[in-house]
Amino acid sequence: MAIVFTSPSHLQPSSSSSLSLNFASSSKSLSSAASCSQIVRLCESSIVFRAYAPTCKSVLVNCSGAEAVEDQAKLSTSNRALRRTVGKGSKLIGCGSATPKLSISNEYLSKFVDTSDEWISVRTGIRNRKILSDGETVTDLAVKSSKKALEMANLKAEEIDLVLLCTSTPDDLFGSAAQVQRELGCNRALAFDITAACSGFVLGLVTGSRFIKGGGFENVLVVGADALSRYVDWTDRGTCILFGDGAGAVILQATSDEQDCLLGFDFHSDGNGQRHLHALVRSTDKKPGDEGAVSNGDVFLPSRASVSCIQMNGKEVFRFAVRCVPETIQTALEEAGLHGPDLDWLLLHQANQRILDAVAERLQIPPERVISNLSNYGNTSAASIPLALDEAVRCGKVKPGDVLATAGFGAGLTWGSAIVRWA
Ligand code: ACO
Repeated sequence: MAIVFTSPSHLQPSSSSSLSLNFASSSKSLSSAASCSQIVRLCESSIVFRAYAPTCKSVLVNCSGAEAVEDQAKLSTSNRALRRTVGKGSKLIGCGSATPKLSISNEYLSKFVDTSDEWISVRTGIRNRKILSDGETVTDLAVKSSKKALEMANLKAEEIDLVLLCTSTPDDLFGSAAQVQRELGCNRALAFDITAACSGFVLGLVTGSRFIKGGGFENVLVVGADALSRYVDWTDRGTCILFGDGAGAVILQATSDEQDCLLGFDFHSDGNGQRHLHALVRSTDKKPGDEGAVSNGDVFLPSRASVSCIQMNGKEVFRFAVRCVPETIQTALEEAGLHGPDLDWLLLHQANQRILDAVAERLQIPPERVISNLSNYGNTSAASIPLALDEAVRCGKVKPGDVLATAGFGAGLTWGSAIVRWA
């Protein structure tokens, strides 16, 4: 099922395009397993459209398998208590992060794959990564980071209206946002997952701010949490050296338009690039009588799905990042009326130090203004930006009023940027 919302021509921006949201537990592209009927209801009440209206001519919402809209009584309480606050800005009021306890060094990796600390650190800047162990989950990390963000923001869990969990590796196929909501006690909040790989957090940040702008949402928790270690081929030295697990969270709060912390943003996706980076869902179609075949009588033989390990053409992804990231940041900077040298900080998805350096050089940002913590954590996908932000804020590096350019890039391919003012 697909719904297209188009804004009246007098509201359409001159340059911007359309936005496509897929709410489908099977495709998991920008997916939410939050009941599709809820999303339909949200669309009907135009929240999604109003959220994105200022920047998009049209919004396409795909709801695979959406059933009829359920009873009003089943809808979340936040929908019932809508406050119309169209036109508000957002401010960042808290952040937090959490990582697993198990640390894996380059030396340790070199015991089971043919690599070395020197090769990894020279080519990537990575020296350690944290990996889930002993029953730790993505939800655990998301909850821990969110609690710290709530504490910094001086907010109670019940004051959160929306929980956005940006992840490609939820603990549940149908998404883990609602579990984060439950564990935190955000009883009034709507919660759903956003899947856009390493671009997920920046997309979540902008999505949260659009919900605030659209109305009805005052406090939004945006969490980036991933555990790519679960999908890494630990015998493939080309990929297993890169990834780590972690979570980071921020809280956005409605404020006046003048105080809006989101100064500009820009997003792209290109499915043609999927061949360079993916972890595909495999369908195993067994014939009746095959070992492990589960039959459905004489009607049909259901297929079973599993996910393959991460496959990446590192060189192509590297080229894509170095070309596209400066471009998207330039576009967002133009919207903000700023230039590279005006920025206090460059905070990119922490994939490879050589990518960070190349992008900084293109944007004429000196190395001392580039935030980097990937030597300790590797590439933590959607968690990397809020994790690095939290460390930089807590050590006093990033101060209130500082302007950051932040950009995510990765599988999809997806990439995008946001110019934000801290606190
Ligand atoms: N240790 C030792 N040697 C290695 C290793 C290793 N871990 N990995 C590869 N090599 C070897 C290769 O086999 C090759 O050997 P050969 O010349 O004999 O054939 C040589 O080193 C060079 O390999 P390349 O793949 O060409 O190395 P490159 O300099 O491109 O670095 C890397 C590889 C680090 C993966 C780099 O390409 C990269 O960082 N790419 C970007 C990845 C990225 O940013 N991903 C972000 C998105 S992630 C997401 O969205 C989920």
